[in-house]
Amino acid sequence: MAAVSNVPPGQPARVLSGMRPTGRLHLGHYHGVLKNWVRLQHEYECFYFVADWHALTTHYEEPDVVRENIWDMVIDWLAADVDPHHATLFIQSHVPQHAELHTLLSMITPLSWLERVPSYKDQQLQLKDRDLSTFGFLGYPLLQSADILIYRAGLVPVGEDQVAHVELTREIARRFNHLYGRKPGYEDRAKEAIKKLGKKTGTLYRELRTGYLEKGDRTALEKARALLEKQKNISIGDKERLYGYLEGGGKIILPEPQALLTPSPKVPGLDGQKMSKSYNNIIALRDEPDEIEQKMRTMPTDPARVRRSDPGDPEKCPVWPFHQVYSDDDTRRWVQEGCRTAGIGCIECKKKVIDAVIAELEPIRKRAADYSSDPTLVKNIIAEGCERAQDAAEETLTDVRQAMGLTYN
Ligand code: TRP
Ligand code: SF4
Repeated sequence: MAAVSNVPPGQPARVLSGMRPTGRLHLGHYHGVLKNWVRLQHEYECFYFVADWHALTTHYEEPDVVRENIWDMVIDWLAADVDPHHATLFIQSHVPQHAELHTLLSMITPLSWLERVPSYKDQQLQLKDRDLSTFGFLGYPLLQSADILIYRAGLVPVGEDQVAHVELTREIARRFNHLYGRKPGYEDRAKEAIKKLGKKTGTLYRELRTGYLEKGDRTALEKARALLEKQKNISIGDKERLYGYLEGGGKIILPEPQALLTPSPKVPGLDGQKMSKSYNNIIALRDEPDEIEQKMRTMPTDPARVRRSDPGDPEKCPVWPFHQVYSDDDTRRWVQEGCRTAGIGCIECKKKVIDAVIAELEPIRKRAADYSSDPTLVKNIIAEGCERAQDAAEETLTDVRQAMGLTYN
């Protein structure tokens, strides 16, 4: 596991992640996200939340979608073994502190930073049927930054498509600390040291530092470090001071998080595309065994295998990735050989993964049924989680309000 730089020794890093409630959870979520959450809850202090505000940024015209999916999503998490004794589970809109931090951070967020987040333009192109030219949608990644920073999370497990949002979060944190985390004495001494660099070098140093702290320009940081390295006429103390000052040098109010990308085996959809409700190719976590069997039996296979006697190629078959996730080496060899020599039929081949998927989902489906029959229990779990989350969030927010001068009493 990557070392987390912003965690005091002896304290576990905080992990934070959210999921948008836009539909039933399926095998893609299970292998891509939930199993990872379950693993992390034993190693770190974890906060997992239902990102209902995030869902509204794209689904504001269909509030029913969000409302209907909230509790089912929580039940799916619990069924998948996300454990409320180990992780704090909550709903974003029940912790309004996220919104306050979002507002406060918006004051210092350059528009251009949001406009250049790749998902901003990508999603507008992809979801053409929705009008996403809203303030809320532009601010989506900043709301995500607030979600993360309000818990001072060190690690953020996300998919590839979300890494840019964590990167933005880092830049926001750095800018915030730069603007509000300065200690007066420290600053004066750093300025004295800059004078000792001489006029030309001093000006360059200042420009590079601003480029890094305010615009997130990493090459500026490297150039400034190289510049300092070359200096012969300043003391070691001043040099160290100037290295530190480059990165803000003040108090860290909001630590920079790291994205945690976990390469997990991908379970594709029934048609070989990405598994997604909108492609109608999912196996839901709560599908009944006969539904699973029916769906997988009718899955397409390598089109070259028209007849049982035609040899095929697993690489061209959407069933093969299921074997990669669910089958042992022997079975995989059996598939590779049997398919290429027409020694096995597709029905037998599928049977192995059908059985494995059904076996995997069996306990999940049972637990989901238990939780569904006890809505009070589920509501209590969330109520408790919300309370814990609010306490943690309020702690950060108190520091933020103070740093931004919002203390009038
Ligand atoms: N944007 C994430 C997604 O669509 C969900 C999310 C919202 C999130 N806030 C977050 C993920 C904070 C990680 C951390 O998947
Ligand atoms: Fe696909 Fe298996 Fe049929 Fe080969 S034998 S085409 S891998 S289902």
